[in-house]
Amino acid sequence: MNCRVCKTPIESFMSFGKMPIANGFLSREHFAREYFFEMKVASCTKCGMFQLIEQPDREKMFNENYAFFSGTSKGMAVHFGEFAEHVKKDFLVSADPFVVEIGSNDGIMMKHFANAKIRHLGIEPSANVAQKAKENGVNTVSRFFDAQCASDIIKEYGQADAFLGANVMCHIPYMHSIVEGIKILLKPNGVAIFEDPYLGDVIEQITYDQIYDEHVFLFSVSSIKYLFEQYGMEVVDVEPQETHGGSMRYVIAPKGAQKISAKVHQQLEKEKMLGLHKPETYEQFRKNCERSRDELLGLMNKIRKQGNRIVGYAATSKSTTIINYCGITPEHIEFICDTTPIKQGKFSPGAHIPVKAYEEFVKDYPEYALLFAYNHSKEIMAKEQKFMQSGGKWIVYVPKVQVLEYDFVQ
Ligand code: SAH
Ligand code: TMP
Ligand code: ZN
Repeated sequence: MNCRVCKTPIESFMSFGKMPIANGFLSREHFAREYFFEMKVASCTKCGMFQLIEQPDREKMFNENYAFFSGTSKGMAVHFGEFAEHVKKDFLVSADPFVVEIGSNDGIMMKHFANAKIRHLGIEPSANVAQKAKENGVNTVSRFFDAQCASDIIKEYGQADAFLGANVMCHIPYMHSIVEGIKILLKPNGVAIFEDPYLGDVIEQITYDQIYDEHVFLFSVSSIKYLFEQYGMEVVDVEPQETHGGSMRYVIAPKGAQKISAKVHQQLEKEKMLGLHKPETYEQFRKNCERSRDELLGLMNKIRKQGNRIVGYAATSKSTTIINYCGITPEHIEFICDTTPIKQGKFSPGAHIPVKAYEEFVKDYPEYALLFAYNHSKEIMAKEQKFMQSGGKWIVYVPKVQVLEYDFVQ
């Protein structure tokens, strides 16, 4: 296997075992045909790109049954409102600006440009979520972005002032075609701004659940710098984000077009201190994952032996890695509650734990809830006062495996 970015041979440093499609919530009749792949990861010693060895075909993950609707989190709606405001204020300087977002999903960010009557286009291959965006008044085309797509866009709309993406760049294995596409698409003074889960946070906080089929890459400033420099572009700014348990926003411009912020250099230094370029760092990460897995399973076995009930809270894509890597079964978790209608009544990928409506959780509180959506914990803790007041406890695994009781959360 060669690195997808620099073509250097890479070797995996760990396997998470057989994994299903993370968002592949399924009905009982599809159990026998469920797709699995071996989830192995590597970090390139030359360019630093952290990547999956194998990724399932894109149509298996992104299609008309895509289960992730961005709008299910209020916190993310606020985040994307702020992101859109920042772009409007600081990056749209021309008279009649044009903005393109890839992976625009249900239009959670693009609707702010649509409402402000700014020329915009969302590129969203998963037809069901794209349809939702169209209903929200967002100009959307349902296809995969690549260099060909960029050429087609400029024929129809002209070049763009800003290229945006959130939690999508790290999903796409054909990065060379994407960066070529960005070059084709952008005006000479245009910028690309995107954010994705950050490798530094995954390593530091042991959030290994950021590794799943869709995330073919976990970016760092140094790997993104390497990639874009091959195309005459450079990272001019970086901004750490709290979203998804730790993300990084990158601002990219043609080389020399903009001043480079001191934050870029500082973050590169931090990455060196973290040892993101060293194989030992990943060896330690593997041990940390194994320890976290053993502790979580041990804790759940203990709780079940005591006769207590555990319900999973939020059927996130990330939970697919936790559940299948740790060997969590329907014996451990009675069901997972989730607010997304398309997931309800189905079963979780791989382990086949029933997914039920949120109301099922409220109806009969369990003693323990396993918090799969820790990235939304502020929103959830505010909402679940009653559960905690009635003695309900949280099982969490980030940054370490532990039980949180009401007093602690206060
Ligand atoms: N930006 C949203 C959605 C992230 S989920 C948010 O942060 O909440 C990733 C999205 O990217 C999915 O909706 C998926 O269909 C889309 N996607 C995957 N590959 C893509 C590609 N090559 N071009 C454009 N969108 C893509
Ligand atoms: P994410 O972590 O990938 O953003 O996925 C969030 C999932 O969590 C999505 O399926 C909706 C679900 N969810 C709930 O069920 N309840 C909640 O309160 C929140 C914030 C999310
Ligand atoms: Zn490489």
